[in-house]
Amino acid sequence: MPQRAFFDLEKIDPDGLRRVGARLREVGFTERGVRERLGLKDLSELRFSDYPYYHKRSLRHRNDQELAIGLFLLQGIVTEEELSQLFDASARQVLREAGILVGERASRTWRSRISLYPVGEDKVFATDHRFTGHDPWLDARIPREPVMYLGADTYYLARTTLHGPIRSALDLCTGSGVHGILAAAHAERAVGVDINPRAVNFARLNAMLNDAWNAVFLEGDLFGSVGSERFDLITANPPFVPSPVYELAYRDGGPSGADVLRRIVAEIPDHLNKGGIAQVVTHVAERDGESYLDRIRRWTGGANMHLHSIRLGEEDIVDYAVAQTKRMYGERYPRYEKQLMEWVTNLRSQRFKRIVGVILTFTWNEEAPKPPWTQEDEAKPPRDTMAGELTRLFQAKKLSRGMESLSELDAMRVGVPDDLMLTERRRPTGTGFETKDFRVVFKKSRLSPELDIKPLVRDLLERVDNRSTAPQVIERLARDLGQPLSELDERCRRALLVMFERGLVTLDPVSGGSSKGEASSPRPPASDAFLSSQEDDTPAQRPGHGTIVEDVEPPARGGRTRRDTPPEE
Ligand SMILES: C[S@@+](CC[C@H](N)C(=O)[O-])C[C@H]1O[C@@H](n2cnc3c(N)ncnc32)[C@H](O)[C@@H]1O
Repeated sequence: MPQRAFFDLEKIDPDGLRRVGARLREVGFTERGVRERLGLKDLSELRFSDYPYYHKRSLRHRNDQELAIGLFLLQGIVTEEELSQLFDASARQVLREAGILVGERASRTWRSRISLYPVGEDKVFATDHRFTGHDPWLDARIPREPVMYLGADTYYLARTTLHGPIRSALDLCTGSGVHGILAAAHAERAVGVDINPRAVNFARLNAMLNDAWNAVFLEGDLFGSVGSERFDLITANPPFVPSPVYELAYRDGGPSGADVLRRIVAEIPDHLNKGGIAQVVTHVAERDGESYLDRIRRWTGGANMHLHSIRLGEEDIVDYAVAQTKRMYGERYPRYEKQLMEWVTNLRSQRFKRIVGVILTFTWNEEAPKPPWTQEDEAKPPRDTMAGELTRLFQAKKLSRGMESLSELDAMRVGVPDDLMLTERRRPTGTGFETKDFRVVFKKSRLSPELDIKPLVRDLLERVDNRSTAPQVIERLARDLGQPLSELDERCRRALLVMFERGLVTLDPVSGGSSKGEASSPRPPASDAFLSSQEDDTPAQRPGHGTIVEDVEPPARGGRTRRDTPPEE
């Protein structure tokens, strides 16, 4: 039976709680502040095994910031004096009355019943403590169905969510309410839903802490609590771990990992507004010779939607099972061995080879009768916002697919992005060298920064001079190759459009003397909030690139590099 939160929201003073949030920001309890203090590249890298080191070394000065980090993030203890240093009397009273701070009379020390995670520079989220099994005081206070800590998957989704001024946002599997509360900053109204009543309590507490007055949280099963309502933004971080057991509602996604994901994907078409965006962070199991993207598209029931995936990394199934079953403290070997084998057997029996961390984005196909596209890009797990880069990718696809005929390219000047490098790989033949393949490298971009390209793409790229129009570039190529223009023209125009979609070239209207880059950052219709108001998070003027699954003459895909472990540790 799920347990409700220990605090009573009715009795908490919202102004007092807001002041606690403000004080934490003031002392540097922010994502950057914590990262710098603990020497982490990213908060998602927090490891329990490092906690003793942090407490003893990184937090040894006991200044206000360090006290806040020790108490709220690292499950630590502060003295009565230290607590008075960190918070004034009224903040202490709010936290004590809410039951968040618990004192021990004999030792005159205080502990927190919740963990707090900073997101960005101005938000903090309360969750249950993450690490148990080493401390009886904590173990006694963690329920069977805890509210999920902010994990790598949480941060990745937050950094990839598109934000523009919208009317409504829905965050499924909201947990601490994090994505709902982040969306509330740019939506008129945000709704979060979770099946765990304790999570709903925490999400409401977090709405108070972050002054998100327009965020509401409902207890319920996915879309069941929102009737037939449609939203401009849907986010979800479902339980996605392919697991032989149902132990944790926030983790276990059934034997395939897709029990909840499949239901979400199937219902997105019924709840997403035209022009809206749905984004889901998840793990997907991959078999040899079968694309997980086909599986996901099938779950949409043939909806006329584009599907984009950012592939953040993959893990072999055995490594994955080890990571999910090992416990560092208090683990008895025979139990670990039994669990590990259960997990591996579950994955093997379904012929899964690897588990992949992805961020999926769904949008309506507004270019019908053209069929919807499916594309996968690779990226390293994002350490800061990647939403701008993703937006530009969608803009470029929309612009190129919106062209009514290839003759629209007549009036387009072709350029190459500043950060693109064309490289040639050669191999020894015994008597000399021969070209193995050609590749483009984008020095500043994070979405698929390396791509293998076909000879035609290379030939075109080599003839782009940032001044010539598309027909001029193609004429130059035909002349150099000694081929009739009529044989090359259409193929080259199609190739240029694919190259534009993938950021290999920029296209700018010649008329009006517009400068390079305008068409690469096209102005979308005003109704399309997502595509008109992203902050620019990347220096490169590149709309994006990757594997185009359905398209004409795509450049060949680059060799895959093994990335870091996907979302979970
Ligand atoms: C991986 S956690 C995500 C928490 C939070 N959104 C985040 O990103 O940190 C998954 C959440 O889904 C909730 N959940 C599981 N099944 C659900 C369902 N059928 N309907 C609604 N929520 C569900 C769990 O209670 C848990 O809070």
